[in-house]
Amino acid sequence: MKRDCLRLWDLTREEIEGIIDRAIKLKAGEDSQKCPLIGKSVGLLFEKPSTRTRMSFEVGVYQLGGQAVYMTPSEIQLGRGESIADTARVLSRYFHAMVIRTFEHERIEEFARYADIPVINGLSDLHHPCQALADLMTMKEKKGKIEGLKVAFIGDGNNVANSLIEAAGRMGFSLNIACPEGYEPDADVLEDVREGKGEIIILRDAKEAAGRADVIYTDVWVSMGQEVEKEKKRRKFQPYQVNSALVGCAKKDVIVMHCLPAHRGEEITDEVIDGPNSVVFDQAENRLHTQKALLELLLA
Ligand code: CP
Ligand code: NVA
Repeated sequence: MKRDCLRLWDLTREEIEGIIDRAIKLKAGEDSQKCPLIGKSVGLLFEKPSTRTRMSFEVGVYQLGGQAVYMTPSEIQLGRGESIADTARVLSRYFHAMVIRTFEHERIEEFARYADIPVINGLSDLHHPCQALADLMTMKEKKGKIEGLKVAFIGDGNNVANSLIEAAGRMGFSLNIACPEGYEPDADVLEDVREGKGEIIILRDAKEAAGRADVIYTDVWVSMGQEVEKEKKRRKFQPYQVNSALVGCAKKDVIVMHCLPAHRGEEITDEVIDGPNSVVFDQAENRLHTQKALLELLLA
């Protein structure tokens, strides 16, 4: 039976722990000669731009001995009206897995329903599970543990926040989310993780959320596809900037995380992202290692 990873919740805690441990080993150079994807091809169908996800999957598949093929809707018949279902059926005949970046989460669910190969979500409007895997690896690397950490997400209750919530539910860290009214994370995601482990609290006050935190995390205020709301969101999110005053509310050894790309001067200041607490570039690197471990789990 094929396994998809459309949201972090699709993985068990044991599988997530296995991916993190494996990624740490891959990062250390262990098994660098092993090519579990030899003779296998992975398709990357991206409906939105990407630096990290695209490049880390392309490089990661190559390092595992396989072939990655990048495509956008306008380069295949999907952009001319071929259905998602038919595209999924056909691509399943060529590829061993697909990574999809899209808008409505239902589009990737539909693709996965008609594909008989593993489908990995490379970001939808609702979830970003590959990001969450790298986030967890980074927490483990920097803090030595995940369970019991106090994490504060400051900003938009978007795809990245939703996947962080699922990470908290599986791994048992406490998560304070500070966001303006009307920009809370997805209600269904919050409902689903209720059976999980971590305590999740939604607050309005960023300083309260960041108080004594081990990790402060933020993301852009305007996600891809939301550009029409740009001015309104910039006004509403002003009190949610991750700056030195906010970092000062957290523990002294707090790590500051951001999925990137960052809009410097908006959700995070230069001083913080370039400062001693920032781990954002290690976090970006870890996308490569965790995705290789995920591919091994789903494909090898
Ligand atoms: N964090 C992340 O997914 O970055 P990209 O949009 O560059 O892939
Ligand atoms: N929330 C952002 C994440 C980018 C990696 C977006 O969807 O644009």
